[in-house]
Amino acid sequence: MTMLRKTGIAALAALSLSTGGAFAAGAEGHIEDIAFSFEGPFGTFDEVQLQRGLKVYTQVCSACHGMQYVPLRTLADEGGPNLPADQMRAYAEQFEVFDPELDDYRPAKPTDHFPKVTSAGAPDLSLMAKKRAGFHGPYGTGISQFVNGMGGPEYIYSLMTGYHEVPECAPEDFPGTYNVAFTAGGYPEECKDEHGGHTVPGSWIAMGQPLWGDDVEFDDGTAATLEQEAEDVAAFLMWAAEPKMMARQNAGLTGVIFLTVLSVLLYLTNKRIWAPIKHRKDS
Ligand code: HEC
Repeated sequence: MTMLRKTGIAALAALSLSTGGAFAAGAEGHIEDIAFSFEGPFGTFDEVQLQRGLKVYTQVCSACHGMQYVPLRTLADEGGPNLPADQMRAYAEQFEVFDPELDDYRPAKPTDHFPKVTSAGAPDLSLMAKKRAGFHGPYGTGISQFVNGMGGPEYIYSLMTGYHEVPECAPEDFPGTYNVAFTAGGYPEECKDEHGGHTVPGSWIAMGQPLWGDDVEFDDGTAATLEQEAEDVAAFLMWAAEPKMMARQNAGLTGVIFLTVLSVLLYLTNKRIWAPIKHRKDS
């Protein structure tokens, strides 16, 4: 029994380690809930917001982070950033890609993908908004997740706005930057309570604070506050990770409506078929 239990616990621990990623440390990060336009069964991406997010990604994040799974042409997709075709082509051309046929570099074409950037040791952002879940526990389950999503973009928002002073309990030589949303980094021994838990959320992070506010100038005149930039880049990365979210939601909704109508029809048919027999019994 104890043996079984132990293996069970070990298996559970292994599972949570392999799936938890950022949250394997056991400490909760601090996640802000944001009402994104694409949440809920009727949500849609806000194309102007995606264009702002693209700008933040291009001018700030792309220095370190690639998006190798996202084709450049999808920037012109309806339901996505919806850039005019010529703008999308011009955007693509600013990247250089290596063409094995030419055996040389050439400007990227719409059919190419965003570059992958490996030099900075920063993870690829193509799927990041789906890799990280901001909502765990009761908030993250069932209907709530259906309505609010998994919290991937919330996590990215919280990461961007979660830079804090290194906690006072940390030793002087504690390395670098501290983020209250990030939990995968190291945590100073001195700040652990007697149960090994954290006294403050978050952990050390190898990414210096990338956004401060006024890092970009938005074409639509929106003020580029830190919060605005964080929200826009989070929305953009959600689109990058799941460009067909709207189509999927619509298909799901159509399915639900179809099944509802079908159920009503079957109920009525059933009533009708059995009506004569029921009446015979009643009389
Ligand atoms: C100077 C380089 C640099 C820039 C610029 C940068 N990052 Fe990072 N980023 C990193 C590094 C390095 C890591 C890995 C951090 C770690 O694991 O401690 C990282 C990690 C991340 C993660 C993953 C965190 C996790 O849970 O594992 C996200 C999300 C992220 N960055 C988003 C962004 C966004 C959005 C921008 C632009 C606003 C940006 N980064 C700009 C270097 C950078």
